[in-house]
Amino acid sequence: MEIIISSSAREASAEAARIAAALIRSKPRTVLGLATGSTPLGFYGELAAMHARGEIDFSEVTTFNLDEYAGLGPDHPQSYAHFMRENLFSKVNIAHWRTHIPDGLAADIPAHCAAYELAIREAGGIDLQLLGVGSDGHIGFNEPGSSLGSRTRLKTLTERTIGDNARFFESPALVPRHVITMGVGTILDAKRCLVLAFGEGKADAVAAMAEGPVTADVPASALQFHSACSLLIDEAAAAKLKRADYYRWVYANKPAWQRA
Ligand code: F6R
Repeated sequence: MEIIISSSAREASAEAARIAAALIRSKPRTVLGLATGSTPLGFYGELAAMHARGEIDFSEVTTFNLDEYAGLGPDHPQSYAHFMRENLFSKVNIAHWRTHIPDGLAADIPAHCAAYELAIREAGGIDLQLLGVGSDGHIGFNEPGSSLGSRTRLKTLTERTIGDNARFFESPALVPRHVITMGVGTILDAKRCLVLAFGEGKADAVAAMAEGPVTADVPASALQFHSACSLLIDEAAAAKLKRADYYRWVYANKPAWQRA
């Protein structure tokens, strides 16, 4: 896993956006895997700004979001479909039909999840998967204990994640208990992964995912098996890494040809 420690979340988000933009320029039909939550807001802001300056064209880009709350329709203000429209899709020239988000109102959830997996495969697989990390080490909504080979399915949120996400709702009681999420196995199939994590609240999860044992207790640790995963973090999120100085040294000495 490549670990890039930036002085600020803003700088890390700009670096992640630069990597995504370079990919889209080299492959206009890029398939992006996208995340929601607080972490990717700067990344989406950068992409929207680059688009406004005429630096990226999304007209042939396809997207698949990691997850959606079960029970919330796309017009619900806390749905991830609404989040994506607000923060990215309405700001770039992406075709609505090329954007995919699990349907929180699907009547037959197993069939919907199987169709989501098939749609990813039919699109040629995900070229670049953006990820945030939960304070408990989840990726997507693969909570601790999730199978490291899991595919898209219904998951039950932990009380900790419900508490973390309650800030977006009027009360914790209104946070849905279930989500439809890509599995860890689905995420590992992406050709490249970019993980963002900012702030001291993520420091334990970052250390466990990057330097701890690979374990279903920390689903993000499965990314240690990915051959092209970069973790972009700020100083606060890097605070508990044992080898932080080595990661800084590696990045400072990164050969020019390896930079996106
Ligand atoms: C969101 C997702 C989650 C979040 C994680 C961190 O689509 O899949 O794994 O990335 O819960 O959330 P924030 O960024 O709000 O701290």
